[in-house]
Amino acid sequence: MSFWEVGEMASSLLALLLLLEGAMLSSSPPPSGLLEKLFQHIDLHQDEFVQTLKEWVAIESDSIQPVPRLRREIFRIMALAADRLQHLGARVKSVDLDSQQLPDGQSLPVPPILLAELGDEPEKPTVCFYGHLDVQPAQQEDGWLTDPYTLTEELPVNIKFILEGMEEAGSVALEELVRKEKDSFFSNVDYIVISDNLWISRRTPALIFGTRGNSYFMVEVKCRDQDFHSGTFGGILNEPMADLVALLGSLVDSSGHILIPGIYDQMTPLTEEEKKMYETIDLDLEEYQNSSQVEKFLFDTKEELLTHLWRYPSLSIHGIQGAFDDPGTKTVIPGRVIGKFSIRLVPHMNLSLVEKQVKQHLEAVFSRRNSSNKMAVSMVIGLHPWIANISDTQYLAAKRAIRTVFGVEPDMIQDGSTIPIARTFQDITQKSVMMLPLGAVDDGEHAQNEKINRWNYIEGSKLFAAFFLELSKLH
Ligand SMILES: *[C@@H]1O[C@H](CO)[C@@H](O)[C@H](O)[C@H]1NC(C)=O
Ligand SMILES: *[C@@H]1O[C@H](CO)[C@@H](O)[C@H](O)[C@H]1NC(C)=O
Ligand SMILES: *[C@@H]1O[C@H](CO)[C@@H](O)[C@H](O)[C@H]1NC(C)=O
Ligand SMILES: *[C@@H]1O[C@H](CO)[C@@H](O)[C@H](O)[C@H]1NC(C)=O
Repeated sequence: MSFWEVGEMASSLLALLLLLEGAMLSSSPPPSGLLEKLFQHIDLHQDEFVQTLKEWVAIESDSIQPVPRLRREIFRIMALAADRLQHLGARVKSVDLDSQQLPDGQSLPVPPILLAELGDEPEKPTVCFYGHLDVQPAQQEDGWLTDPYTLTEELPVNIKFILEGMEEAGSVALEELVRKEKDSFFSNVDYIVISDNLWISRRTPALIFGTRGNSYFMVEVKCRDQDFHSGTFGGILNEPMADLVALLGSLVDSSGHILIPGIYDQMTPLTEEEKKMYETIDLDLEEYQNSSQVEKFLFDTKEELLTHLWRYPSLSIHGIQGAFDDPGTKTVIPGRVIGKFSIRLVPHMNLSLVEKQVKQHLEAVFSRRNSSNKMAVSMVIGLHPWIANISDTQYLAAKRAIRTVFGVEPDMIQDGSTIPIARTFQDITQKSVMMLPLGAVDDGEHAQNEKINRWNYIEGSKLFAAFFLELSKLH
C-alpha cells in the first residue's frame, strides 16, 4: 500500500539532503552551477537511493488495521523520522495526541504528528511539505544519511515538514492540529506542497491544481426490522427493496447524467483557456480504455473524458445493505434496506446545497410511489472539492523546474478522487497549496504490485531541488 507514498517521502527528503550537501560543495555557487552539481550528485548516487527506498519499502506497516503491534510500528516510524530530521539540522516538534476509541471498544494510541523546521530566514520563502509515514525501515542504514549535515545559508528556501502516521486511517487529529498551529507553525509558511498522487501519463510530469470532493449518502427504506417470506407476504405490501431500486434508479441515466434537479446549476462554464489545457494533456484514450479493460467509455474524446472526471460531478451507486446477496434462490422480502451512493463534487459546488437537492429529489420520487414504507436519507460523508490558483508563484516555479529537469511542459491536471487535506490546508491556513506528484499513471497506488519507476524516483528528486531554486528566484 505505501510503496509509492514512501517513495514520495524518500524523494522529498533526498532532494532536501542533496540541496544541503550541494550547498556545501561551494561557498557561493551561481544557482545554475549548483543545480548541475546537485543533479550530478543524484545521478552518481542513484543506486544508494534505490537501496534506501528498498529498505523503506520492505517494512510491513498499516495504519488501517487496528492492531497494537502495527500501531507501535508507526510510533517507531515517527520517532525515526524525527531523528532523521534532527540529523538534517531541523528543529523538530513531536505533537502527542489523545488515543483513538474504536467502535469495538478498543482504545489505540495515535502516533504523534511531527512539525519540523529547517531554516528560518525571513527574506526567503518558506515551503511546507505535508507527508505521511505509514511505512519506515526497521533498520537504520541509509548510507547517504550518515553524515550530520548542517544547515548552511546556501539553502534557497526555508523548509518545514508536517508529517503524520494516520493518513490511511482518515488523518485522525490532523485537522485539529492544523487549526491549532495556524498562527504559530503555519504563520510564516508561504507555500504548502503535497505529493500524494500521480501523473496522468507514463512520461509527462504533471501538476495537480484541483481535486473532487465527495458526498456519500445512505437512503434507508423500512417496512419493519424483520424480513418477510414472499409466499406469505408477497403481493400485499410495499416491498422496501422495490422502493429502494426505484429510488436508486432515479439518480443517474445511462449516459452518466445525474438526474437530480439543480445539480448542474452550480457549474461554471468551460473557458477557452481550460479547453486549451485539456487539449495538451498527454492521454491516449484508447490505451487508457484498453488498460482499464473497459469495452468502451461513455465519451469518445480525451477532452470529454477528462472534463467528466474533473469538471463535472459524477454519481456512483455502491451497494445495498440488507439485501439478499448470496448465491442461491432465497425467497426473502427484506424488511429494511439501505442504499448507498455518492456524488463526487467538482470545484465551485456547494456541499450543503447538494445535500439539500439530493434529499428533495429522493423525497419527491418516494412520495410519487405512495409507499407505506418509511424513507430516511442521510449524508454520511461530506468532503469539499479543492481548486488552486495556477497563477500562484509556486505553480510557476514548479513549471519552470519541470522544464529544467524533464524538458517538457507539465500536464496541468486535476484529480478525480478526493484528497481532503488540500482543502483543509487551504481553508485553515489561507496559504497556496500545490500537488507536485512524482509517480507515473501506471504505478498502481494502493493496489497489488504497486511500484515506482527508478526514473521517476531519481528525476523526481532533481525536481524538488530545482523547484526550491526556482521558487527562491520567483518569490
Ligand atoms: C486496444 O485494444 C485493441 C483490441 O485489442 C487493439 O486493436 C488496439 O491496438 C489497442 N490499442 C492500444 C492503443 O493499445
Ligand atoms: C451553500 O448552500 C447553502 C444551502 O443552500 C447556503 O445556505 C449557503 O449560503 C451556500 N454557501 C455558499 C458559499 O454559497
Ligand atoms: C399515488 O396516489 C395519487 C393520488 O392518490 C395517484 O394519483 C397516483 O396515481 C398514485 N401513484 C402511484 C404510483 O400509485
Ligand atoms: C491568482 O493569482 C494571481 C497571481 O497571484 C492573481 O493575480 C489572481 O488575482 C489570482 N486569481 C484569483 C481568482 O484569486
